[in-house]
Amino acid sequence: MTDHDLLRVLRSVRSTREFRPDPVPQELLTRILEVARWTGSGMNRQPWTFVVVRDRASLAAIADASPNAGHVRGAAAAIVIVMHGEMPEMETFDEGRAAERILAAATALGLASAIGWIQPAGRPAVAALLGVTDQRSSLAPTIRS
Ligand SMILES: Cc1cc2nc3c(=O)[nH]c(=O)nc-3n(C[C@H](O)[C@H](O)[C@H](O)COP(=O)(O)O)c2cc1C
Repeated sequence: MTDHDLLRVLRSVRSTREFRPDPVPQELLTRILEVARWTGSGMNRQPWTFVVVRDRASLAAIADASPNAGHVRGAAAAIVIVMHGEMPEMETFDEGRAAERILAAATALGLASAIGWIQPAGRPAVAALLGVTDQRSSLAPTIRS
């Protein structure tokens, strides 16, 4: 990839909230997650867990949990970013870096994506669904565009 190609991908990251029904190949999700896990973080704490959600009932439950994440219902997959929540100010920055890299990687692979914020009221339901105890999470759903 040339510098021109990389800058074109970064410049073209846009939120898309309506998706085709096609499944996302596991290989593409794995490549996105590989980018996500190499994201730099404050003090190199890597204070996140990335949870991939693919089944329709769970995607619908996430959409129901927060009006901001309604588009997750129609996505082929979502990557839930669960932050560990021990250093909230630093982790807010870390979370943004990871989310943007997920979106950029999806864009580079020809996938449409958008963030879906889980509002505080919806977090207990999503945490129970995913079996996590952390208090904070946001979503970056992806699907082939
Ligand atoms: C911190 C943050 C939270 C966001 N939360 C949501 C969200 O909950 N739902 C949503 O549809 N878009 C969300 N977005 C996407 C923004 O609305 C979007 O990036 C902005 O409108 C610019 O549009 P673009 O991404 O197409 O350039 C969020 C973006 C950021 C940076």
